[in-house]
Amino acid sequence: MPEPLHLVVTAGPTREHIDPVRYLSNESSGRMGFAVARAAARRGHRVTLIAGPVDLPTPKGVERVDVVSARDMLAALREHFPASDALVMAAAVADYRPRTRHRGKWKAKERGESPSIELVENPDLLRTVARRKGHRFVVAFALETGDGLRRAARKLEAKNADVIVLNGPSALGGDRTTATLLDREGNQLELLDRRKDEVARVLVRLAEGLRDPSR
Ligand code: CTP
Repeated sequence: MPEPLHLVVTAGPTREHIDPVRYLSNESSGRMGFAVARAAARRGHRVTLIAGPVDLPTPKGVERVDVVSARDMLAALREHFPASDALVMAAAVADYRPRTRHRGKWKAKERGESPSIELVENPDLLRTVARRKGHRFVVAFALETGDGLRRAARKLEAKNADVIVLNGPSALGGDRTTATLLDREGNQLELLDRRKDEVARVLVRLAEGLRDPSR
């Protein structure tokens, strides 16, 4: 077994509330992040899994922190990332949130005939925490339609990650995915129609192998 690491993994969607019962969110199931958490715990690593609202059991041996919104997830990352060795940012963070959250239910009579919701941008969580990542190994995800390689390579740089996992929309919800892993040297690894468990194991091995040996 390798020397144990502390991995922080984010998973699932975030919810951005309009009022106490309505929100904006996305189709992320959380399966990829949970698979990474499970694979890492099985290899003997300490895992902190920061999970958006998903209906999945906590993998054995994993410390789970449940969050709702992007800003909650950022607070959890700020708490756990500094003491970690690696971050796998599999969460599908909502890029926007409503500017105001109604305290009570947003009633029809207040909404008027053609209601609109003003959105404000959420912080880029990965960019925020990975800016000063030091020795930590950071994995980003990108979901792109069409040929997303170039966009994924740009995100890898912009977010200061070591590796980015490029997925297509078929990854959403299922147990399988086709993914391309890209690193900062331009190396590519194609994983065609693999179980998310297998992709997860590859990522955990990368975290084990690419850790700065001088630390
Ligand atoms: N991410 C983040 N904070 C955000 C948005 C995304 O940390 N506010 C992270 C995701 O967890 C993922 C990567 O950044 O690891 C995805 O990058 P992003 O540019 O948001 O990708 P998409 O949402 O797929 O991009 P876009 O809609 O801009 O194509």
